[in-house]
Amino acid sequence: MNYIEKLTLPNLPHDIADSLLEISRTLQHSESDRQWLSDYHEGKITVAGYAIPDVATAGGVNNTPMSDELVGALDAIYKKYFPNQTLYFVCNVMKNVVDSSSIFPPHCDRVRRTAINYVVDTGGDDVTTTFYEQVRLGDDFSKAANINYNDITIAHREVLKEKTWYAFDTQRFHSVENITGSRFYLAILLGSNPGYSEFLQQYPELILKESPYGQ
Ligand SMILES: [Fe+2]
Repeated sequence: MNYIEKLTLPNLPHDIADSLLEISRTLQHSESDRQWLSDYHEGKITVAGYAIPDVATAGGVNNTPMSDELVGALDAIYKKYFPNQTLYFVCNVMKNVVDSSSIFPPHCDRVRRTAINYVVDTGGDDVTTTFYEQVRLGDDFSKAANINYNDITIAHREVLKEKTWYAFDTQRFHSVENITGSRFYLAILLGSNPGYSEFLQQYPELILKESPYGQ
């Protein structure tokens, strides 16, 4: 199983991407959350500010300030790829709020088990997503899991491309490095909240098959 897969889902139309970018500019990071993570890592890394709305797929809660019209437009494009699922659309921002490049440190996501992410703005020329050997222990997904850099082993690194859909396992520890601007992505959460291997099995037609020769 690959650490990350590109998906064949269609790109966001320009007007929708623009509307989402406008929303992303209104999303404020929590400085106390950022400070908490910084303290967790004993101030050894520069932690990015982040606004990752509280989405409990089980409860269908979505705090992203998106109009019904926008959600309807997204649903009209993406719902047919996920029959019998309720789709939740969420805007996420990670941003450099200090005068250097920042890191969103190693974690497993709260609640969602598989990322279906579309990078609208990478937040820098060389922003890297790192996946680690370690995965969450246990199956309580109600809280994010954090881990110290000393306790993890790098498994794979990838610079995610703009305007591309990706899927990866959010319950494998992962981090984002070298954020120099504002990184903004749209996520689709599925009502059934499948684990990553379950997702790959359920939606094989959505996984982009790339030739190793780039053709
Ligand atoms: Fe994450």
